[in-house]
Amino acid sequence: MGRFEGATVLITGAAGGLGRGAAKGFAAEGARLVLSDIDEKALADLAGSLQTETAILAGDIAEERLSEDLVKLAAEKFGRLDISINNAGIVQSFVRLPQVASDEARRVLEIDLLGVFYAMKHQIPQMERQFKSNGKGGVIVNIASVAGLVGAPKLSIYAAAKHGVVGLTKSAAAEYATKGIRINAVCPAHTRTAMVDGFVRMSGAPEAEALTELTRGVPMKRVAEVDEVVSAILFAADPSNSFMTGHTLAVDGGVGAI
Ligand SMILES: NC(=O)c1ccc[n+]([C@@H]2O[C@H](COP(=O)([O-])OP(=O)(O)OC[C@H]3O[C@@H](n4cnc5c(N)ncnc54)[C@H](O)[C@@H]3O)[C@@H](O)[C@H]2O)c1
Repeated sequence: MGRFEGATVLITGAAGGLGRGAAKGFAAEGARLVLSDIDEKALADLAGSLQTETAILAGDIAEERLSEDLVKLAAEKFGRLDISINNAGIVQSFVRLPQVASDEARRVLEIDLLGVFYAMKHQIPQMERQFKSNGKGGVIVNIASVAGLVGAPKLSIYAAAKHGVVGLTKSAAAEYATKGIRINAVCPAHTRTAMVDGFVRMSGAPEAEALTELTRGVPMKRVAEVDEVVSAILFAADPSNSFMTGHTLAVDGGVGAI
């Protein structure tokens, strides 16, 4: 029997590297899935490849309505929402702060920060209702970043958004600590997904050289593989981790140690 047998798990940004990895990881442990992404086709393809009951709804996480509809979908299709992985996100152009276009800054904040706020705003009341009716609330795992814990040169507005996600996580965790809802953040360093591929492309250097440059400040001198981050997401969501809330779980190859 899997760790998440029968649990309903909602994942945003599900069609991307970490989202897809998390969907597969939860499915392998017996979960039923509610998946969302702005990329409708990739989302449908993913759902078709999973061996578990899956509901999908495509949309833009920067639109509050999507978060409301996702919670309704979980409740209508599966009767409850046990775990939410708020993962959808974008990165910004790799430039110093004065060069960040203000429109781009607003879009990063709308997706990476407000997207998580809207998600939690609609997930928490559903989990609270569940806690009141049968004593089983829920778990929220927000995907922040190492850039949510320390500064990130040439990623200022992204870092601001991710610091914001950490702030939302800690504040809401304290608000709901006695109401059956645990809320934690996972903070990865560079992980081998489309996001890192984008950095490599932007650098114009050969891949090996670009990755060496990217991981210069990482004690392990490499990027994370998707499975290494997914393992931390599942750990944070695991019901046996019942005393962990408001925590920022760094998966960073040692960045935070120096
Ligand atoms: N890959 C890394 O190096 C890294 C490091 C730290 C944190 N993160 C965070 O992990 C999360 C997942 O990123 P990833 O590495 O899997 O990247 P990814 O680009 O592979 O996946 C992101 C997914 O989010 C979706 N998305 C983008 N904008 C959206 C929107 N407005 N509404 C709904 N969905 C949208 C994309 O379509 C994509 O499927 C992000 O929040 C990212 O900031 C990634």
